[in-house]
Amino acid sequence: MVTTRPARREDADALGAIHVTTWRSAYAGLIPQGHLDGLSPERSAARWREHLPCAPPETCLVAVDPQDLPTGFALAGPHREDQPSRAAELYSLYVHPQHARAGVGTVLLARTQELLGAAGFVRASLWVLTSNQGARRFYERCGWSVDGRTRVDVLDGSPLHETLMTTELLTSELS
Ligand SMILES: CC(C)(COP(=O)(O)OP(=O)(O)OC[C@H]1O[C@@H](n2cnc3c(N)ncnc32)[C@H](O)[C@@H]1OP(=O)(O)O)[C@@H](O)C(=O)NCCC(=O)NCCS
Repeated sequence: MVTTRPARREDADALGAIHVTTWRSAYAGLIPQGHLDGLSPERSAARWREHLPCAPPETCLVAVDPQDLPTGFALAGPHREDQPSRAAELYSLYVHPQHARAGVGTVLLARTQELLGAAGFVRASLWVLTSNQGARRFYERCGWSVDGRTRVDVLDGSPLHETLMTTELLTSELS
């Protein structure tokens, strides 16, 4: 069984480590290597320390192991470009490679969608690297679909092609 709870400020170091480890593992060959080499768990942890705990309507959940240590996280909230609206955005979802493909991401995503729906959001979207086939398969399996919109971001001078995926949210009460 996967346990989740709201992220706390004390989780900042663990979230910084998950962020950097997961990026280096998942994005090698997809984004510039120099950017991955320059990532710092400490800098990421410092950003988390400033940000946590999340204030509603933003939500940040962690999945935790039996020792209550985070194994993954999901950060979501109001859509950043589509405001004001009842549209939400999944900003990030990362599961440490040592815990990947064990159901953690599925539970984090389902629970995040429940929280967004209970907060009154009716749909959610996310930008995924077009070349990130694994994540795209994961989101499709969780009921998300490609929306048809794409964009090109630029990172360290290299173009990053991204694809928008969306899902409807259930606005019912939390189970
Ligand atoms: C994508 C991610 C969040 C999925 O979380 P997870 O806990 O590994 O996924 P789950 O165990 O809940 O679901 C696994 C299913 O998703 C799909 N899937 C997940 N990762 C996959 C991959 N790398 N390649 C192909 N399918 C994948 C498969 O259908 C898989 O089922 P299977 O293992 O029976 O084949 C996680 O692997 C991750 O953090 N990846 C790297 C970072 C990333 O791409 N994040 C998304 C940014 S938009």
